[in-house]
Amino acid sequence: MKKFDKRVDRTGTNSVKWDYRNEIFGRKDVLPMWVADSDWRTSDAVIDAIIDRAEHGVFGYTKPGKETSELVVNWWRRRYDWEIDPSWIVYTNGVVPSLSVIIDTFSRPGEGVLLQPPVYYPFFTSVKRGGSQIVTNELKLEEDGYRMDYAGLKNLCNPDGKSIPSAPPPSMMVLCNPHNPVGRVWKEGELNRLADICLENDVLIVSDDIHSDFVYEGNSYLPIASLSKEIANNSITLTSPSKSFNTAGLPASIAIIPDEKLRERFRVARNKVLKRPSVFGLEAMMASYRDGEGWLDDQLAYLQENMEFSRKFVAEEIPPVNSFEPEGTTLLWLDFRSLNLDQEDLESLIVDEARVGLDFGHWFGPGGDGFVRLNFACPRETLEEGLERISSAVKNLI
Ligand SMILES: Cc1ncc(COP(=O)(O)O)c(C=O)c1O
Repeated sequence: MKKFDKRVDRTGTNSVKWDYRNEIFGRKDVLPMWVADSDWRTSDAVIDAIIDRAEHGVFGYTKPGKETSELVVNWWRRRYDWEIDPSWIVYTNGVVPSLSVIIDTFSRPGEGVLLQPPVYYPFFTSVKRGGSQIVTNELKLEEDGYRMDYAGLKNLCNPDGKSIPSAPPPSMMVLCNPHNPVGRVWKEGELNRLADICLENDVLIVSDDIHSDFVYEGNSYLPIASLSKEIANNSITLTSPSKSFNTAGLPASIAIIPDEKLRERFRVARNKVLKRPSVFGLEAMMASYRDGEGWLDDQLAYLQENMEFSRKFVAEEIPPVNSFEPEGTTLLWLDFRSLNLDQEDLESLIVDEARVGLDFGHWFGPGGDGFVRLNFACPRETLEEGLERISSAVKNLI
């Protein structure tokens, strides 16, 4: 049996995905495939590092040092050919909290922050909380998948006078690469076009690259900040090993900020309201980047098979539903629009008939209606059970 095939009972661990089913979906018997964490144990290297540290027994104030930064720098150099200067790294305890603080720091209330929905819904909350205005440039769904709408971007950043956008020109944009939920891993040409528009219009690029370690055959992840010095100096890249190593309950994240002025402003804000990684978050981060690469690659191979299995299953067994090939992430974006259900009926089909807990497309903003998101980072048996449940529910309906 492969290590990722083993089903681990997560109930009773205060798991958001498993123990809050009733609160989220109104019933306890849904098979949860929503939250983007994985249903398997992390690597032994991480578990051993945490046990060792726990046995030390003293958990005082802790700060990542030179060794941690070397591990981070090596990871990005080795895997993504990006040369990060260790001084660019600011450690934090969460990508979403970091994003909120970045929005508060670099965007004044009332200013626009550009998002490209359908996109990870906490982005909307982070912008709203800071008093900034959400400016949306919806992704375009074309024959061959999702694309950025460059004409829309240009017009929102610098209106031509003919069309009047409903929100102020943005001072910042939040990129998601790989893109949750649609699974695109943005290509060099796409990133360059986006960066050109941002540079021309003085729009700071904040790139949430937390899913960067999940990229499938035939695709390669490219950090936007690695494209040129000019882009790097107009960017903040946020990431964490927590998705890759399934350690989201041990918050430890990184902001990579090449420009010194931006970095120092963020560091001051970080010190006021955020924390560095906790003792165990830091141990997990270091063990992941030092000893976890083999485990990560095994996991990627398993995820590749899960992704192919679920796409084939949907195509053969649930033909009214269309799935998009994820180039990255562990998320399958499913299009239920051909069933012509309104939102309430779609939710009832998924939750009450299929008894599966998924993220509903409308949570992800404009462009999400009629879609759902399924996380396939689970043992194959669980995945098959979830897909079977959806298939029976759809077959009963039509
Ligand atoms: C795009 C994206 N960013 C950030 C997060 C969460 O990051 P954190 O737990 O470090 O706040 C997620 C989790 O699903 C995500 O998908």
